[in-house]
Amino acid sequence: MAIETMELRVRRITNEAEGINTFEFVDPNGNDLPEFTAGSHVDVHISGGFLRQYSLCNDPRERHRYVVGVLNDPQSTGGSRSMHENVRAGDRITISHPRNNFPVKDEAKHHLLLAGGIGVTPMMAMIEQLMTTNADFTMHYCTRSVEQTAFRSRLAGLAAEGRVVNHYDGGDPSKGLDIPGLLEHRQEGTHLYYCGPTGFMLATKEGSAHWPSETVHFEYFAPVAQEKPAAGEAVDLGDAEFQITISSTGATYNIPGDKSIVDVLRENGLDVDTSCEAGTCGTCKTHYLEGEPDHNDFVLTDAEQKEWVMICCARSKSEKIILDL
Ligand code: FES
Repeated sequence: MAIETMELRVRRITNEAEGINTFEFVDPNGNDLPEFTAGSHVDVHISGGFLRQYSLCNDPRERHRYVVGVLNDPQSTGGSRSMHENVRAGDRITISHPRNNFPVKDEAKHHLLLAGGIGVTPMMAMIEQLMTTNADFTMHYCTRSVEQTAFRSRLAGLAAEGRVVNHYDGGDPSKGLDIPGLLEHRQEGTHLYYCGPTGFMLATKEGSAHWPSETVHFEYFAPVAQEKPAAGEAVDLGDAEFQITISSTGATYNIPGDKSIVDVLRENGLDVDTSCEAGTCGTCKTHYLEGEPDHNDFVLTDAEQKEWVMICCARSKSEKIILDL
């Protein structure tokens, strides 16, 4: 089943900080948009053939608009730059329905949010949802400087209350938040959510390694492979051949080292839904019944990996994986 998309109108573009704009999308006919929950993202089809996932940063109760925040990163492979340079208010843009790989966990007694730079965007929707439900939360927001800190006015009240704590490191992480120190002692019932650039993600992953895995949630916004491979472009999956079996039909296929499971399923006429094809968006999440996948994704928790596999990027440690398809 293909990912559902819609054509929306860019209603407003707002500069939120140095190099960071928000883009507000609305239905051209003024209709309500499909509902979303905090932590959701949408695929945005950008001119130049780019497809990028951006987290929704507005209040999930809003039905009249989606808002995404985009950093014009000099390291960008083109998508975010194109958003900044080519998208104008009034343009029509194709956007997917929202999907959520990074939901707020209602069972948490306390929610600890760690945002690094533009990784704050999903947290903005989370904060709205947590305030709506009167949940207990703290967000640590790590940026280089005040000027590079988006949503300052929206967060000012919470910062004054101490529920949002800003950390400016001037570009030197050792001068910013002490992540290992913050995460050393976990208060019972606390769930951790984090999103940010690679170094921040690694530091937080290491700092929370002793936390129960079901209490740690994260989302990568900068996939290792940012570009969706162009048609016909070889992807170096670099691994040995293995087999997959489709449980409903018993059909078995070989997955050679230079093809993904998705590639082989499509070659055999199966309709497979994908978006990033880099293990970051969660679109191709598939239940499996047997086998030991070599996961390679950035979405699934340890517990989820026991039941689910991202078939765009996974290889296999066992000879065969049986997919629940
Ligand atoms: Fe995005 Fe597989 S298509 S994780």
